[in-house]
Amino acid sequence: MALAKKTPADFLAMKQRGERIPSLTAYDYPTARLLDEAGVPFLLVGDSLGMVVLGYPDTTHVTMPEMEHHVRAVARAEPRALLAADLPYHSYESAGDAVANARRLVAAGAQAVKAEGGAAILDQVRAIVGVGIPFIGHLGMLPQSVIEEGGYHIKGRSEIERETLLADARALEATGAFAIVLELVTPPVAAEISRALSIPTIGIGSGPDCDGQILVTPDLVGGFPWFTPRFVKPRRRTGEDIRAAVTESMQTVNPAAH
Ligand code: KIV
Repeated sequence: MALAKKTPADFLAMKQRGERIPSLTAYDYPTARLLDEAGVPFLLVGDSLGMVVLGYPDTTHVTMPEMEHHVRAVARAEPRALLAADLPYHSYESAGDAVANARRLVAAGAQAVKAEGGAAILDQVRAIVGVGIPFIGHLGMLPQSVIEEGGYHIKGRSEIERETLLADARALEATGAFAIVLELVTPPVAAEISRALSIPTIGIGSGPDCDGQILVTPDLVGGFPWFTPRFVKPRRRTGEDIRAAVTESMQTVNPAAH
């Protein structure tokens, strides 16, 4: 019997049962199939694809057509996992833009969308949820703000940051988000937010006490060997496997050259 497709309600139920939510990014058909066959319940076509797939320096270069292209590829795997997609940089400046672009991602195959920010984007969140599209928040270090912030900084170290994060998380929940990604939030503050909310938090570099954990899949499997975030311990070295396979193959084709 085919297993049922995951829904936002499943994640709320997992939190209520105290069950953790393993989550990963996917940007293409084969990776989505592999992750889904392994039973990962939540897949995100993150705009991290800008760096780990498209070779941009940061996520601010990712466009809507690029997101749609990758969402379509992942959706062709027909994952049982809930498939979410990032609204890219400057695609949700107004409530109208947010809804139009969220609809495009849904038309490409996403079941939910994610956008970065708290109080500043509540009108956009309300509009997205209002047309029936499930929404995931993203607080803490916001990669789309890397230029304004002058780098990627841990959040939650000062009392004002702790209070702002907590208030933003509560506001997103009250506006209808069904989960919130917490990126590079200090572990005690991430734990406090996770306790304060009834919707699940999905942490990345935010300590062990979030309701779920998400990683950029190439970081997990060593698929982008030129950079690994400090908080990730790659479980495989697929980049090195590719180098070794290619070198062996070249030796077979042309032994004289080696
Ligand atoms: O873009 C992305 O992959 C993300 C995750 C790091 C949560 O937003």
